Parts: sequence; C-alpha cells; structure tokens
Amino acid sequence: MTDVTGVPADVLHTLFHSDQGGHEQVVLCQDRASGLKAVIALHSTALGPALGGTRFYPYANEAEAVADALNLARGMSYKNAMAGLDHGGGKAVIIGDPEKIKTEELLLAYGRFVASLGGRYVTACDVGTYVADMDVVARECRWTTGRSPENGGAGDSSVLTAYGVYQGMRASAQHLWGDPSLRARRVGIAGVGKVGHHLVEHLVKEGAEVFVTDVREEAVRRITERHRDVVAVRDTDELIRVDGLGVYAPCALGGALNDDTVPVLTAEVVCGAANNQLAHPGVEKDLADRGILYAPDYVVNAGGVIQVADELHGFDFERCKAKAAKIFDTTLAIFARAKEDGIPPAAAADRIAEQRMHDAAAARRAR
Ligand SMILES: NC(=O)c1ccc[n+]([C@@H]2O[C@H](COP(=O)([O-])OP(=O)(O)OC[C@H]3O[C@@H](n4cnc5c(N)ncnc54)[C@H](O)[C@@H]3O)[C@@H](O)[C@H]2O)c1
Repeated sequence: MTDVTGVPADVLHTLFHSDQGGHEQVVLCQDRASGLKAVIALHSTALGPALGGTRFYPYANEAEAVADALNLARGMSYKNAMAGLDHGGGKAVIIGDPEKIKTEELLLAYGRFVASLGGRYVTACDVGTYVADMDVVARECRWTTGRSPENGGAGDSSVLTAYGVYQGMRASAQHLWGDPSLRARRVGIAGVGKVGHHLVEHLVKEGAEVFVTDVREEAVRRITERHRDVVAVRDTDELIRVDGLGVYAPCALGGALNDDTVPVLTAEVVCGAANNQLAHPGVEKDLADRGILYAPDYVVNAGGVIQVADELHGFDFERCKAKAAKIFDTTLAIFARAKEDGIPPAAAADRIAEQRMHDAAAARRAR
C-alpha cells in the first residue's frame, strides 16, 4: 500500500512509530523547472540545528530515497552527539544521476529549499556533491558548509578525518596494549584515497609497519613511490589475512565487516574511516566474540563533520585539529563503558550518544 506521495506505508511507519525512527521532520522538495527532487530528513535537533551532507544519487525510486535519507539522518544524530558538537542529525538526498542532471539551476533551487527551513538544517557535501556544489547552494542559503576556501569555506575534510581516525587507533592501542604508540605495529589500510593516504602519513611518521591495498593501482603507487617501506598487497582479502596484523583500517566502502571477513581477520583492532562498516546488526558482537576491538566508525571518522561544523563559525584549522584530537579520549571512554556494561563498543557508543541527546532534550523542555 502506498499513500499519495508514493511513499510506502512501511517507510511512514518507520518515520512515526518505529524505535529506529522518531524523526522530527521530513521535507519532500520538488522544483519542476530544474528537475530537482529532494528529501530532507531531520532526525533530531535536540543538540542544535541538524547537520549532515547532501547525497546526490540515482535511487531506483522515491521510496528508496526517503528510506536512505531517514537512515542517514539518524546516523548523523549519533555522529554529531559523539563528536561533542552542538548539532543534531539531518541529511538530504537529491534523486538522480549527478553526472546527468546536476546543474547550477538545480543546486540553487535546492539551496532555496534548505533556506526555507530557517536554519533547522545545515547542509554540506556527501557522496555525489562537492565543495564547488556547496559554493553554489550557499548563494541561496546561508546554512551551507563544506564550501571552498575561496568562498569562506574550509575545503577538503579528509585531512582532519584521517587525523581523527589516527587518534582512534592510538586510543585502541592504549586500551589494548597499554601504550598509544603504533610504532612497529602492523597496520593494514584498505582504500588509500583521500582519507587513507593521509592516514598512511601519520602511521609512517610514527614508525608503524604499513600495508596498503586499493582497487586503483595509481593510488597505491602514489604511496609506495613516496614510502619505500610501505607494503602493497593484492587486495583486501589478502590484507585482512596478513600475519600479525595489529590494526585493520577499512577506508573504502561500507560493509567491510561481514559474515565472510570477520571470521578470518587476523587484526586485533579494527579502526578505519569508512562509514557503515558493520554489514548488519550483530557483526559488532561477532567481533567482540573473536576478541577483536572495534573502534566505532562514526566516532573515529568524525574529523570531517567537526571541520564542517567549525566552518559555520569561521574556520580555524588549529581549533578544529584540537577538537578532532579529542576523538582519542572519546574512543577510550567508549571502550571503558563497553567493559563496564558488558556490551560491544558499538553499542556503548550508541548508549552514550542517546544519553547526550536525551539530556539535551530534557534540559530544553525544562527551560
Ligand atoms: N572524506 C572524508 O572527510 C570522510 C569523512 C567521514 C567518512 N568518510 C568515509 O571514508 C571512506 C573513504 O573516504 P574518502 O574520502 O577517502 O573516499 P575516496 O573515494 O577518496 O577513497 C576511497 C578509496 O577506496 C578505494 N576502493 C574502493 N573500493 C575498494 C575495494 N574494494 N578495495 C580497496 N580499495 C577500494 C578507491 O579506489 C579509493 O581510492 C568512505 O567510506 C567515506 O564515506 C570520509
């Protein structure tokens, strides 16, 4: 059964009734002149204006787009809460192939819809949108971040994302081995793109034994030509089986931790930049059962969102770096809570984030 919007009843049920939902607001946007069709989902504004990027993607249908926006917005609430930001969670999706339909007119129309929310939602880049696009959106909407430095923005967020992941790794080492140093530890990085290649630099500097893989040969070559000691392996399958691997860092796509990979991982720690590393609920428990320490992805990869949030106040790299450095303490606190409550770190992170949102909402009601 569908309602007049074509949104299936189960999606509406998720929105209003399910424990997985509880979103505050969902806005369906259409500008027929430019062909824009977008969904803006605000999961929570308990901690402040909802912040999250705009995904531009050729969804198979509108219902899939709504479902994705709802999931992504909820994820941003948790990520922003754990990053200590005064921002709730939101996300927007634009339906269509960006290669084919992205135009200045469409982005401007999108900017007007975001502006119509009056600051309840702050947008940024995500899959399929780039700093140049945010520069255009910003012409219609001041609640836009992730812009280019020439337009008052902070630019590429991968530098601080990598720095945050590195801090998460150091915290994992501290928790597991009693020392944050990664010196002489074997660290395997799957995906040496924007974030992964910066991560290599931190690890090489610290004296780790680094292994890398990527589906793009040139990405691997760029690293091995610069650092002769970095070892390139054929693929992720080989990487996760490297003997004596201390840390595995998924830095490519989501779903890296699944029923096929978890049983064969040689690493003692998983800590990487990729979003949604756990392929399905329950994988976090499988990791814990194998004695593998998992540093929750949305906690350690928050350097990027810390940067875009900072941009709203006039970007300052050193201030942002100091905030991203706190990922070390946050990760340690999650491991401590996990131990205390007898639950996997991913569940502990969710509990801490939910508590922060709950407390903020209660404080607001009391005012
Ligand atoms: N860029 C950021 O600031 C940021 C922030 C938070 C999270 N993330 C997440 O981190 C991950 C990496 O982001 P990025 O910005 O570096 O993206 P990117 O596209 O620059 O890099 C990803 C790399 O992974 C490689 N890759 C793809 N499939 C692979 C496979 N099967 N095996 C090995 N390598 C593979 C690609 O060739 C590419 O080099 C993504 O999941 C992204 O969502 C990025």
